Amino acid sequence: PLMRIDIISIFPGYFAALDQSLIGRAIADGLLDVRVHDLRDWTHDRHRTVDDTPYGGGAGMVMKPEPWGEALDALLASRRDDGRLRPSGQGTVRAQEDAASSVTVRREQADGSAPLPVLVVPTPAGIRFTQAMAEEFASASGLAFACGRYEGIDHRVIEWASDRFDVREVSLGDYVLNGGEVATLAMIEAVARLVPGVIGNPESLLEESHSQTVGGLLEAPVYTKPAAWRGLRVPEILLSGNHALIAAWRKEQSETLTRSRRPDLLDGH
Ligand code: ADE
Repeated sequence: PLMRIDIISIFPGYFAALDQSLIGRAIADGLLDVRVHDLRDWTHDRHRTVDDTPYGGGAGMVMKPEPWGEALDALLASRRDDGRLRPSGQGTVRAQEDAASSVTVRREQADGSAPLPVLVVPTPAGIRFTQAMAEEFASASGLAFACGRYEGIDHRVIEWASDRFDVREVSLGDYVLNGGEVATLAMIEAVARLVPGVIGNPESLLEESHSQTVGGLLEAPVYTKPAAWRGLRVPEILLSGNHALIAAWRKEQSETLTRSRRPDLLDGH
């Protein structure tokens, strides 16, 4: 596989969605190796506890550091050996046995040492996820997501992990989700479609890199047959066959749309 993605979550069921559509095809074709791990596999009490009350008081619960520590230890160990994750204490092999699957795109660091695997921690307190970030993640040597729930993960986990991973606390946008799972799904989709071969027609990637919301402009509206539908006609210029005129029309539409909906994207233009 070109890219291995590990996900640690207390709701592994969310990631069944990855078996659908283009990402599902890429996994089936062996382009992507996605492994979902249940954080509770690294708990040791009868109730498989992952949270506790916050020091200093306040509402809600905080995710305990110990299960995260063990899960991340297992992730690091699996990069060293053959790519399998073992919940500590049980010795069980959780992910599928495929020695070749630990092969990822490798980029050396400036000093020639092995690159740190990227660990994405979705949080509304993170820096904003962008297309540029998706492009960067798409060429990472390894990608992992740590999905927090409740009020977040004990911050010492982030501190400890920062010496061993390239940790990125990332927010999907200025709104609050119940946990990192849905944000992780969105980020994986944005990243995976940039991995060579995942999208059938790579031209669609080239086109959007300068025509969509990627620091460029919003895309003009699109139409298909029939030319008239419920009394509404497709803009005549699109039926003209004049490619220069069509390009000019789309550019004008893009600029108008961007000015009204996303003037922030025009600042650099
Ligand atoms: N977890 C909860 N809210 C989130 C957000 N907006 N982005 C990323 N992760 C989150």
